[in-house]
Amino acid sequence: MTQDEMKQAVAHAARDYVAAHLPVGAILGVGTGSTANYFIDALTPMKDRLGGVIASSEATHQRLAGHGMLVLDLNDVEHIGIYVDGADEIDESLAMIKGGGGALTREKIVAAVADTFVCICDASKHVATLGRFPLPVEVIPMARAHVARQLSQLGGTPKLREGFITDNGNLILDVHGLRINQPTTLESQIDGIAGVVSNGLFARRGADVLLLATSSAVKVVK
Ligand code: A5P
Repeated sequence: MTQDEMKQAVAHAARDYVAAHLPVGAILGVGTGSTANYFIDALTPMKDRLGGVIASSEATHQRLAGHGMLVLDLNDVEHIGIYVDGADEIDESLAMIKGGGGALTREKIVAAVADTFVCICDASKHVATLGRFPLPVEVIPMARAHVARQLSQLGGTPKLREGFITDNGNLILDVHGLRINQPTTLESQIDGIAGVVSNGLFARRGADVLLLATSSAVKVVK
């Protein structure tokens, strides 16, 4: 199977997971990225069973609305049953690096509200130690240089994502060269830097379920 075929296979498995575990009329959170896009496409035939969807980015909002889904405002919702999203890396404890598409802050907000986070990945994303993928950090523009200096002190090499503005009007610093042995600690340290909006470590609130596509099957990891 190609990587795209694995993404499609795991997207279909996630659709089946939602059909089996999300009560009819409940709210579903939907992530961002190419794997999430395949999930949205797979979800469309069962859209009438959903009470509505919460989008984790403007791009996902547009795709969901284009497929005729009822996209709700998170401020009007108290409860999200399941959140389905991809990741850039995921480890054995189901801690993740996310934000390769720049949607990390809204993804983290939707994940915080959801009862169950279902991560959908192909096997290339499953790692022993997080950090080979550069860690995205969303930054208020006036704090860019200050935050970059602080991230360098933590041992990384931050690089501005050129020509990119997040859905929230901010910048992304991609931090290279981190070997992340204690993801929950680093997540809190980076969040503590003045000017950081959020960072792409999802460790304090990691995934609850991993659907992992290999070349032969989709495995369920809990
Ligand atoms: C979006 O900001 C990211 O968190 C994505 O979930 C992540 O980059 C995975 O994207 P792909 O499914 O395109 O690899």
